[in-house]
Amino acid sequence: MNYKPLQIGDLIAERPIVQGGMGVGISLGNLAGAVAKEGGVGIISSAQIGFKEEDFENNPRLANKKAIKKEYEKARRISPNGIIGFNIMVALKDYREHVIEAAKAGADIIVSGAGLPTELPEYLKGFKTKMAPIVSSVKSAKVILKYWDRRHNATADMIIIEGPKAGGHLGFSVEELESELDYDNEIQGIIDVVKEYEKKYNKDIPVVVAGGISDKNKVKHAFDLGAQGVQVATRFVPTKECDADENYKKEDLQRENHSHKSDSTKDVTAKVPDENDKNFENKKEVYLNEPDNIDNKHTNIDSKSTTNNDRLPKTGTVSEVFMSLVAGIMFTLGAFLGLKKKDQD
Ligand SMILES: Cc1cc2nc3c(=O)[nH]c(=O)nc-3n(C[C@H](O)[C@H](O)[C@H](O)COP(=O)(O)O)c2cc1C
Repeated sequence: MNYKPLQIGDLIAERPIVQGGMGVGISLGNLAGAVAKEGGVGIISSAQIGFKEEDFENNPRLANKKAIKKEYEKARRISPNGIIGFNIMVALKDYREHVIEAAKAGADIIVSGAGLPTELPEYLKGFKTKMAPIVSSVKSAKVILKYWDRRHNATADMIIIEGPKAGGHLGFSVEELESELDYDNEIQGIIDVVKEYEKKYNKDIPVVVAGGISDKNKVKHAFDLGAQGVQVATRFVPTKECDADENYKKEDLQRENHSHKSDSTKDVTAKVPDENDKNFENKKEVYLNEPDNIDNKHTNIDSKSTTNNDRLPKTGTVSEVFMSLVAGIMFTLGAFLGLKKKDQD
């Protein structure tokens, strides 16, 4: 099966893989840059992004702002022409500031979930930065696209569908996760909603499916359903280029349910990690910095870790993850069609 490059307006990802944003400190400039360099879409998470800055304790707002620029520049150095964006959760207290700072830094795209990004088009007025809301149901797709249409006379540049197997805080109950609910119909329903707005705005709005995408079959399944891309997060955690602490990566490798079992959920309630805390490295895995604002807090990282070395995935590199997901798939179609990469006239 041949897949087309992922085209987001004038941006072209030769390989239709969006790397899911992962906070705190899991997907920063290094991972995003490496993914963009491989022809995917590299995404930096803005959640407490400034935690390594000296003044983070005293002035986290400023530290986060500074780090948004720094991490973007780091990613850009790694991939001068690739697609680099930010994942900015609506639930963040400084959501608006993060969006504006990311756009000012030069972000190609902003992916926003953990709430509906109702005012994103307003914040991005005057910037070239593209907008990709995260939705999980036909209902949420309808609500956000209708709202943007009526209130902002705007529509999405890309839609990310996060299913029950995506880590995060998507509103699925534990029962729904455990019942392995059939999500394919929902995906197709969302694609139908998106088509209405493609027609109305006379533009292509690629749909990207996320959650538990860990091998070629899952990629193929998403494309068979009508997606133009997949978003992958957990698979990138153990790579050399991932920004996470090495201990965290090691721990991730030792998790029995690395392959996204639906029962690998747990509530996330911890606060911003404190560097003086002796469990600092463990706490960094918690990416929600505003737990009180979020109703459902699940992550697909399993807290029970059993060591079984035979079953451990290899660390590898970003390039190897791409190979495992899309090897043998022809991506040069864009080149044949004369599509141009960003920064090329
Ligand atoms: C460690 C980790 C951190 C994450 N952090 C964020 C985040 O900051 N914001 C967000 O919207 N989603 C976050 N997610 C969700 C991912 O971006 C992604 O949509 C989802 O994990 C995709 O499923 P997969 O991990 O099975 O590939 C996180 C996921 C993981 C595993």
